[in-house]
Amino acid sequence: MSNNELPNSVLAENAEDIGSNPSGNPTMGDIIASRLSRRDVMRGALAVTAVSAAVSPAALLAACSGETTTTPSFSFAEISAGIDETHHVASGYDTDILIRWGDKVLADAPAFDPAKQTSDAQARQFGYNNDFIGFIPLDGSSDHGLLVVNHEYTNAELMRAGVDPKAGKAVAFDKITADEIAIEMMAHGGSVIEIRREKAGDVKTRGKWAVVADSKYARRITAETEMRISGPAAGHERMMTKADPTGLAVHGMLNNCAGATTPWGTWLTCEENINGYFWGKGALNKVADAASFKRYGIPAEWYYWAKVHDRFDMSKEPNEANRFGWVVEIDPLDPASRPVKRTALGRFKHEGAGNIVNRDGRFVVYQGDDERFEYVYRFVTRRPVDMDNRANNKDILDEGTLYVARFDADGTGVWLPLEYAQGPLTAASGFRNQGDVVIHARIAADLLGATKMDRPEDIEANPKTGKVYVMLTNNSKRSTAAVDAANPRADNRFGHIIEITPDGGDHTARTFAWEVLVQCGDPGLAEVGATFNPRTTSSGWFGMPDNCAVDAMGRLWVATDGNSAATTGRADGIWAMETKGEERGTSKLFFRCPVGAEMCGPCFTPDLETFFVAVQHPGEGDDKEPSTFDKPITRWPDFKPGMPPRPAIVAITKRGGGKIGRAHV
Ligand code: FEO
Ligand code: CA
Ligand code: CA
Ligand code: CA
Repeated sequence: MSNNELPNSVLAENAEDIGSNPSGNPTMGDIIASRLSRRDVMRGALAVTAVSAAVSPAALLAACSGETTTTPSFSFAEISAGIDETHHVASGYDTDILIRWGDKVLADAPAFDPAKQTSDAQARQFGYNNDFIGFIPLDGSSDHGLLVVNHEYTNAELMRAGVDPKAGKAVAFDKITADEIAIEMMAHGGSVIEIRREKAGDVKTRGKWAVVADSKYARRITAETEMRISGPAAGHERMMTKADPTGLAVHGMLNNCAGATTPWGTWLTCEENINGYFWGKGALNKVADAASFKRYGIPAEWYYWAKVHDRFDMSKEPNEANRFGWVVEIDPLDPASRPVKRTALGRFKHEGAGNIVNRDGRFVVYQGDDERFEYVYRFVTRRPVDMDNRANNKDILDEGTLYVARFDADGTGVWLPLEYAQGPLTAASGFRNQGDVVIHARIAADLLGATKMDRPEDIEANPKTGKVYVMLTNNSKRSTAAVDAANPRADNRFGHIIEITPDGGDHTARTFAWEVLVQCGDPGLAEVGATFNPRTTSSGWFGMPDNCAVDAMGRLWVATDGNSAATTGRADGIWAMETKGEERGTSKLFFRCPVGAEMCGPCFTPDLETFFVAVQHPGEGDDKEPSTFDKPITRWPDFKPGMPPRPAIVAITKRGGGKIGRAHV
């Protein structure tokens, strides 16, 4: 969920969201000129007249980088950008709906009946707003595995009848029933499903994917699932509540956006906009730690669960909000296991947890804090991953160092450690231990002088090249005075992508180099300042990069959130983005969503023959074109009278077999 597409009942309020980072960290606007002149010299007679020209033309970049590759890495016939009621994929590919909101996850789940929803049914059925998708192979197979899926949030106006999307929150709070709240809570969280691709009689034709009924792995995680708290904040006094005086256990995970899988086969699922679930703005100033809650935008009062659950009411249980905003590790191979909130990775509005095993064996997790002017983080484990003995990685994420990024104007950067008693992170600044540091990670990062970014979303490392890609989705609140080298456009409505090169190819190194790979938006409008490779077609450009995937061949795929008739004249979708050689910065449209949907969860099977994508909130409307359960702007994917649009996972395969996005492989 982005700040552009919150539940409709809060759209008006959120339109004024300008982020909650008031720190005075430098934006580097004062030193941008020095960088530009240095780059001019390095790159020859490039006329640089504006900050938005900090990225040189792609051909020039290629010339400078020493890349000689001329072969495009993607091969498929691009589809046309546009918007309609359904999805589209490149020709020669098949799309199958694997699972939709309301479909069976647990064997005893009832069939979905939109007119007769219950919390008991929803707790057994596939949840709402599928976001991250991870594939965990079983038996080393690309035809059989577990799919782990986040259910980020709920759209009341599309899930049930009679919700006026423009109703004020007071009206909705007043009207919502305990049953409706319970359904919403069960629709959150995540699902584990076992899936298999049945081989057909003809060995050349692989069968379609299907969910394995009665799987022993099938599992629903909800806003009530009991979880363990581990790491530096476990047992911390700020984590203690009336229901849990130990500070070691919490019910549920909220707003799980993107995530990752680990090499040892666990699922990292990341809590993002947790502020929306807490109520009690009027009481905030009476609460201890009010300033730190404000730094996290808590409470935002988007959902109404506090009406029946005191733990979401800040005036009654303020510490509950400290127990959300974490990365949760779940072992899908053990359905009885308790999910664990890994607090060493810090508390903020996590997007994802893109990761790589460093060459010394330590595990490195890259993390974005998705809000305007927030930061890019990295976590490095203390111990190396044990690739032979899974059990040895059980608590590897509890020990290590959390860092935040400073992007300097000369194209280098530094990872600044968030370590208690180091630098400013001492009692004088209110930090008494590492638990305080991770609970208030944003405040610690402010003090360290991290660079305020244009909404960091997914970050993925490319294991083939060692480069790291950072999606920065947009930030229309950045002023001209606040632009800097890494966030070079004021009123950045379309976002950009940064490529990080760790020094010495070492993902634990303290320093790195960086480049803007592309500034997004319509390259045909000079005032937008987009920098796609000129080879990009009129369908190939996009705005608002959000999730991304690097496939087994080292190719970058970008999923977007926020393209629409109003913003870019096109639906969200999947774009294939070239990163090497003369093609660098060229993108091509591979798949597009039905109207109102955002694109999430790009995920490949290891053999690259299946591409799973998550269509989130299909049919979501806006102020100009409201859309409801009763009168939706699309009924994707069922297109049946009375059936609302349903978030769903789509399996994309190549007709006749073969790798996605390759001609003859
Ligand atoms: Fe849930 Fe940053 O999108
Ligand atoms: Ca998203
Ligand atoms: Ca987003
Ligand atoms: Ca996202």
